[in-house]
Amino acid sequence: MQSRTLKNILLFVAVYWASTAWAETVAIIGTGDVAGALGPEFAAQGHTIIYGSRNPDREEAQALTNKTGHGASVTTQGAAAKGADIVVLAVPGILVGDITKGLGDLSGKIIIDPTNPLQRKQAKFHHAADTSNGEIVQAIAPDAHVVKAFNTLGWKTMIDPEIAGGPVSIPLAGNSLEAKQSVAELVAGMGLEPIDVGGIEHAHWLEGMAILLLNNRFGGRDSFDFHLRKSE
Ligand SMILES: NC(=O)c1ccc[n+]([C@@H]2O[C@H](COP(=O)([O-])OP(=O)(O)OC[C@H]3O[C@@H](n4cnc5c(N)ncnc54)[C@H](OP(=O)(O)O)[C@@H]3O)[C@@H](O)[C@H]2O)c1
Repeated sequence: MQSRTLKNILLFVAVYWASTAWAETVAIIGTGDVAGALGPEFAAQGHTIIYGSRNPDREEAQALTNKTGHGASVTTQGAAAKGADIVVLAVPGILVGDITKGLGDLSGKIIIDPTNPLQRKQAKFHHAADTSNGEIVQAIAPDAHVVKAFNTLGWKTMIDPEIAGGPVSIPLAGNSLEAKQSVAELVAGMGLEPIDVGGIEHAHWLEGMAILLLNNRFGGRDSFDFHLRKSE
């Protein structure tokens, strides 16, 4: 009896330790589709989520916070980023530079950038940056560790990779191997497969994929969905 009690205590300690071993505070800037996909997933992995919203009192922001649970909260964008180890920029791609500038000092933090810089000109979508949003964010926050991730698939596939009919990969571009490793753990915790595709300069090509999709979808050609899958 005594040994069973001891075993149960050890099991409880092991499970508790595993769930809190890498518990980070994650600020998710934005409360839209991508925020609503990633926030609850990261919270379920034991991380504390703080949403950053232009209007934290808005009903939708409060509803997302309640749905996320695990001690999640919502505040302003700047306050969310200030208290976080990891900042996710789940915001309109065209605005990511200005929004990042408004977040204060991001030194030492991991920044996850899932944005696509889409600009519509003469009925066509264009890449809105000469370089990429990933590189723009890295230049604005040179002492942060930017990882481009989650921009090459729709939010529904992020939370339910089964709908893609097999494993779904998430390419990670960034200059810090350590930051990519941390993001890879978040990715794997969602049942997705991380693939390191090199430095942040590769973000440009990852961002271009959404432009292909939109120009086909709204240009009268075949509509398609896409995601990457690791080959053997
Ligand atoms: N939707 C997808 O399936 C998908 C997949 C991969 C990547 N992405 C990319 O991920 C990013 C977010 O996409 P999303 O679909 O989540 O967009 P969304 O649903 O429009 O949400 C964007 C959020 O950003 C905040 N926001 C909006 N306008 C803003 C402004 N002027 N200044 C500051 N914050 C503003 C809003 O939050 P508050 O109102 O709370 O401030 C809003 O909920 C985009 O760059 C998109 O290209 C989208």
